[in-house]
Amino acid sequence: MARILITSALPYINGIKHLGNLAGSQLPADVYARFHRARGDEVMLICATDEHGTPAELAAAAAGQDVRAYCDEQHALQRDVGEKFGLSWDWFGRSSSPENRALTQEFAEVLEDHGLIEERVDRMIYSNADRRFLPDRYVEGTCPVCSHRPARGDQCDNCGSLLDPIDLIEPYSAISGSTDLEVRDTRHLYLLQTKLADKIRAWVDSRTDFPALTRSIALKHLDEGLIDRGITRDLAWGVPVARDGKPRPGFENKVFYVWFDAPIEYIAATQEWASAAPGRDWARWWRGAEAADVRYVEFMGKDNVAFHTVSFPATLIGVNEEQRADGAWTVTKNAPWKLVDQLKSLNWLNWYGGKFSTSGKRGVFMDAALEIQPPDVWRWYLTANAPESADSAFTWEQFQNLVNKDLADVLGNFVNRIVKFAETRFDGAVPAGGLPGELELKLYAELSTRLADLTQQMEAIEIRKSALALRSIWVLGNEYLTEAAPWTALKTDRDRAAVIVRTGLNLVALFARLAGPFIPFTAEVIASAVGESEAGVWPSADGRAELNRLEPGRPVAAPPVLFKKIEDADVADWTARFGGAET
Ligand code: MF3
Ligand code: ZN
Repeated sequence: MARILITSALPYINGIKHLGNLAGSQLPADVYARFHRARGDEVMLICATDEHGTPAELAAAAAGQDVRAYCDEQHALQRDVGEKFGLSWDWFGRSSSPENRALTQEFAEVLEDHGLIEERVDRMIYSNADRRFLPDRYVEGTCPVCSHRPARGDQCDNCGSLLDPIDLIEPYSAISGSTDLEVRDTRHLYLLQTKLADKIRAWVDSRTDFPALTRSIALKHLDEGLIDRGITRDLAWGVPVARDGKPRPGFENKVFYVWFDAPIEYIAATQEWASAAPGRDWARWWRGAEAADVRYVEFMGKDNVAFHTVSFPATLIGVNEEQRADGAWTVTKNAPWKLVDQLKSLNWLNWYGGKFSTSGKRGVFMDAALEIQPPDVWRWYLTANAPESADSAFTWEQFQNLVNKDLADVLGNFVNRIVKFAETRFDGAVPAGGLPGELELKLYAELSTRLADLTQQMEAIEIRKSALALRSIWVLGNEYLTEAAPWTALKTDRDRAAVIVRTGLNLVALFARLAGPFIPFTAEVIASAVGESEAGVWPSADGRAELNRLEPGRPVAAPPVLFKKIEDADVADWTARFGGAET
């Protein structure tokens, strides 16, 4: 039994996320977690809301709410909609938790003790109209790299470059729109990443099994050269800059930068999980020898990769290790914190040709999605189209086509056809009698190959290929049933028909177990149709054994229609409501 720690990038608190966000980190993380649980591994699936920094302050201001009240409300909404999508978190935390505050402050103390934090006076944008500094997203302007406008002060959404607000061309305040800005001196803490650059590169080099997308982004950032990074901001909302429990002199009105405290929340959320019930030990997932056998896998969209291959590792390496006077590094007495073992990054899911956009009313958000289709329908579409090797585009037509074909015709129809047949012709029970013939032997062999392939794709976290491999097994079952034709066999040879129906019902049970990670709600319904209580055990690659599990005599009962077909009228409706190609 392996131990797998899984995190997905923490969604910003500023509103319910769109389907691109779900497809790009949370859903693949959940599919992977469910797969490992089904294999009997011990899994810790962690997520949380990312509640600090300018995204939270700006959204609260736009909603006319106090930022803490805003975060309380939005956290509950995001948790609720995530659960409705079947996201099976072990814990869904909050980066504003006391645990994260304490751990963030502790990490900063250790980094400073290791000579990796320095106070510097820096030049930051100050708005005369707003009478305040404008960190990060409080400034917008033209991207100095790709000329996109508006780019935000922290990052350009168009080209992905990490930015410094003072580099923006023709900047203006995101609060007031004012261009009456000046550059003023202000004191901040800097994390001396330049001292850590060699260590980080050596670590990235050692992660030879990182996927190509992850590696290329990491190396691009390392090649551009690491700079020392300001990890505090002139903001009111966030983790206060304190040492030994006391505000740091000169930093009373400052907080840690959101990108400093947010990834630390992966650990702190696990502490929140431990605090919530007795007998839970967070440290064995994260720290020291106890966590050495844990495999830590992160999921995120490509815009987050630089932070997770450079900035967050810099924090952890800097806490874990200390440089001696002679230049050699030693691991500190503080037992080391776990760094990521595998980092699965995904491209964008786009909305037709362009980006999802809240303000432009383009695209579907998680809550609205559930008003028009059940969670499994979305889960299937978003995994079968996971934006892995490249960006992928959502279209209503493709959505309709995929759902109708894969779910209604191939899977739903198969389950219904064979279970109904068993109900009407075999007294609603798994039939006894007969021996497997040539067709079954061929099926066993082909199934064994495809099961091995699917399991391998799942292990490799190839989400889209896994979905394709799963569908190919559904198709195989359909082909078998069509060729074996139990309705014809029944007329002349009841034993032969019994073998086919028994094999078909075993296929149903198998489909339920294989589909569990992808469409968990439906998988349960399918499993119970053939009397399986534990849908959640991942099958072996032995086709023969997997198709001879159900004992004869076990009652079966056809489920209600599993998937309703999407009609052209639905597509027209949704296009009008959510936009489509012409918007
Ligand atoms: N909130 C960030 C985003 O949506 C992701 C934060 S991931 C974390 O881009 F590691 F920092 F938490
Ligand atoms: Zn840009």
